[in-house]
Amino acid sequence: MVALAALDGTACLLMLSLGRHAVGMLAPLAVQMDALTQYPPAAGRKLLMDFGAGQGYEGQELRSSLSYLLAHYEQMGVHFDEVWAWEPRPVNQSTYWQGVPPDVKFRLHLYNTGLEGDTTSPAHPIQYIKQNVQAGDFLVIKLDVDTQSVEIPFMRAVQADADLRSRIGEILFEMHYIHQDMPWFIGYGDGISYNDALNLFHSLRHEGLRIHYWP
Ligand SMILES: *[C@@H]1O[C@H](CO)[C@@H](O)[C@H](O)[C@H]1NC(C)=O
Repeated sequence: MVALAALDGTACLLMLSLGRHAVGMLAPLAVQMDALTQYPPAAGRKLLMDFGAGQGYEGQELRSSLSYLLAHYEQMGVHFDEVWAWEPRPVNQSTYWQGVPPDVKFRLHLYNTGLEGDTTSPAHPIQYIKQNVQAGDFLVIKLDVDTQSVEIPFMRAVQADADLRSRIGEILFEMHYIHQDMPWFIGYGDGISYNDALNLFHSLRHEGLRIHYWP
C-alpha cells in the first residue's frame, strides 16, 4: 500500500510534469521497504514474468521495464533464473537482441504477442504458473498492458485462487483508475475508481500477497 497511498494528487501531478520515468521510482522503493526482513528469498528458482515488457530491452528510452527490474532485483539479491517477457507491439528482433546483455540472453524468453483475457485458456500464463511454479520458487509478476479486459480478469483470477496466490512471490501492477489529474487515462480507467483500486490492493495484501503499485 505504500506506493499506492503515495499516488495521491501530488504524485499524479508529478507524473504529469515529469513524465512516467520520474514516478517509476515509487514501486521499487516500496519493494525495498517491505523487503528488509525477507530478502533475498529462500532457495528455489527465481522467476520473472513481465507483461507489457516494451519493444526494446534497455529502459533508458522508457520503452522497457526489463533492464530496470533485473537491475533492481539483482541489487536486492534476487538473480532471476528465467525471465518471460510479453509485448504485443512489434519488436524488431535483430535490434532487440543486440541490446540484451549476453548473461540475460540465455534466461530471456520473449513473446511478441499479447495476453488473452480468458485466464482459463491453456495458453494463458496463469495456467503455466499453476502447473509449473513450485513451492519455494520466487515468482515476480509485473502487469502493465494498458488493457482492462486483460488486466482485470488476470487480477480477479489471482483474487479468487489461494493456490495460485501461494505460487506468486510478488506482483507489480499498474491498475488504471479514473482520476481528475490524469485526464487522458480516464478513457481506459473504464469505470474503475480510486476506491476500486484501493480495495483490490488492500484485499490482496490482506490475503498475504505482496502486491505493489507499478510504476
Ligand atoms: C530492424 O532494425 C534494423 C536497424 O534499424 C533495420 O535495418 C531492419 O530493417 C529492421 N527490421 C525490420 C524487420 O523492421
